[in-house]
Amino acid sequence: MRAFELAEWIDGHRPVRHDLAQSGMAGEIPVVRPSRRELASADPDELTRLIASRLRVDRRRVFLTHGATEATSWVAVYLAGRYRRRQGRTPTAWNPIPDYPPLRSIVEYAGFRRARAGSSVDVAIRSHPSNPLGTVTADVLSGTDGVQARSIVIDETFREFTSLRSVAEPDDDRVWATGTLTKAYGADELRVGWAVAPSSEAERFRRCHAILGDDLPRYSVAAGSATLRRAPELLRTSRAIFERNRRTLERSFGRSIPLAAPVWFDRVGDGNRLARAALRASVLVCPGALFFDPTGVRLCLTRRTFPTDLTAYRRVRAHVVAA
Ligand SMILES: Cc1ncc(COP(=O)(O)O)c(C=O)c1O
Repeated sequence: MRAFELAEWIDGHRPVRHDLAQSGMAGEIPVVRPSRRELASADPDELTRLIASRLRVDRRRVFLTHGATEATSWVAVYLAGRYRRRQGRTPTAWNPIPDYPPLRSIVEYAGFRRARAGSSVDVAIRSHPSNPLGTVTADVLSGTDGVQARSIVIDETFREFTSLRSVAEPDDDRVWATGTLTKAYGADELRVGWAVAPSSEAERFRRCHAILGDDLPRYSVAAGSATLRRAPELLRTSRAIFERNRRTLERSFGRSIPLAAPVWFDRVGDGNRLARAALRASVLVCPGALFFDPTGVRLCLTRRTFPTDLTAYRRVRAHVVAA
């Protein structure tokens, strides 16, 4: 699979009448623009401090990036090098199925060998809450799927749709977290993300980040800080849209669907067939195969138009699933 086939699928099939493929709040909540004064005094240390305070971690553990994907990439490159040097062999990594596809591409390009569930690995890497499942896992740090990992990298891109604390907060030596402003804050265009290292690794990782990462543009720094200063109000709106859509989904299916993130995996059997049939009716959903699980499709619950979009989807689904 190509690295960003998921993005190609979404962008290559728009515009559609019913878009159930957008996993972030862009376009649904206001983009925060910095004032002239905020732009003139843009300070990366202030942005780092705001992120650290939201995550309740020491700011010296926080590293700015252009997004969660970049953050996870630097952490993976760093850990691959560290385990290779320490152990003199190809390091191993595990990633659940289904999961956000770039995470698998990242570990492959960083030089890890993919390990199977039920084994002991150097690094476990996953999105949490999960994209595409929208769920959280109680034992995310204690060996899910029988996997024991020496280091755990959690992509917390969707965490701020929930009241979950960051996995970075307890400062466990094994645990790394990454995050972004692109989803719950709808601030895709700012390109602001972060990695949080455990204290025991932060100074070594700083050297890696200084080589690989580059400074964020002044605009991103100023707008990122302004966005985080308005976090309570922005998150209240994002979460309200998501929660209203989640209740609509539950009513439509007549059962409880507990989701922590505004994505849902509808297991219908043949996800490719349903996604193609939906497209013919101008309904865009993502085939599960793009997340390595062809048995379903992913629906996103981020748009205010969700109730109408879901009705259109249910019509197609009824035809395909009954056929
Ligand atoms: C789990 C996960 N991580 C990262 C991203 C992308 O984040 P960014 O744009 O900050 O790289 C997404 C986007 O869908 C995602 O679902």
